[in-house]
Amino acid sequence: MRGNKVRQGINNIVILTGAGVSAESGIDTFRSAGGLWEQHKVEDVATPEAFARDPDLVLRFYDMRRERIQQVEPNAAHYALARLDAAWSGNLLLVTQNVDDLHERAGTQRLLHMHGEHLNAWCSACDERHLWRGTLIDRPACPACGIAGQLRPDIVWFGEMPYRMDEIYHALNHADLFVSIGTSGAVYPAAGLVREARKKGIKTLELNLEPSHGASWFEESRHGPATELVPAWVEEMLGG
Ligand code: APR
Repeated sequence: MRGNKVRQGINNIVILTGAGVSAESGIDTFRSAGGLWEQHKVEDVATPEAFARDPDLVLRFYDMRRERIQQVEPNAAHYALARLDAAWSGNLLLVTQNVDDLHERAGTQRLLHMHGEHLNAWCSACDERHLWRGTLIDRPACPACGIAGQLRPDIVWFGEMPYRMDEIYHALNHADLFVSIGTSGAVYPAAGLVREARKKGIKTLELNLEPSHGASWFEESRHGPATELVPAWVEEMLGG
């Protein structure tokens, strides 16, 4: 049974998370110094053209990241968001740009991966998706159609359409509060959600290590590590 504590005037929440919420679990963010996009060019590993040009490089990159996320644990920010999800009696949708499974492992249920998931493989032959913990470099056969060499990472690459945008905009249309956590606001359409929220008169809050590209769009911004800011914010929301 979900608790009945809601903050004054706030019943329906949309939360957007980015790589910053997983940083303290030991997963590289994309745009920090030494981050993923400094180690690999986006155009070499995260576009359909890159996959067509050098599938081995792309498969190895995602095999490495798929293995990495299985070696780390959720952090206090993930657990605090899962606590909010479990206790919040109003509507709540956690939209994550992250492709790790740390929100799930912390217990969040009302969750949507708009950029796909490392632990899914997607068959280009039969369009089926499968939980996948191993590697793809050896071109395994699809468990559904049996065709080998057609499984790709179920990741939304640059130039591809993020998943379930209709659900995201629907949730935002009915929200009273939009909270952005651990994202640089560098990539659309995720980065544009705060503007949609402002247009609708929805309260907006940013929790991030530093001001994001979209910081000026937020009514309130708090800066610091997610493992400190997020538990404190959840305490506030649950009336702790
Ligand atoms: N606590 C809170 N915020 C943090 C922390 C932390 N411990 N560490 C880093 N951050 C912040 C950084 O300041 C930065 O603003 O998290 C943000 C991470 O930004 P990016 O590395 O750009 O990651 P993200 O915003 O998730 O990228 C969005 O871009 O490359 C694509 O598909 C990829 O989903 C990704 C999208």
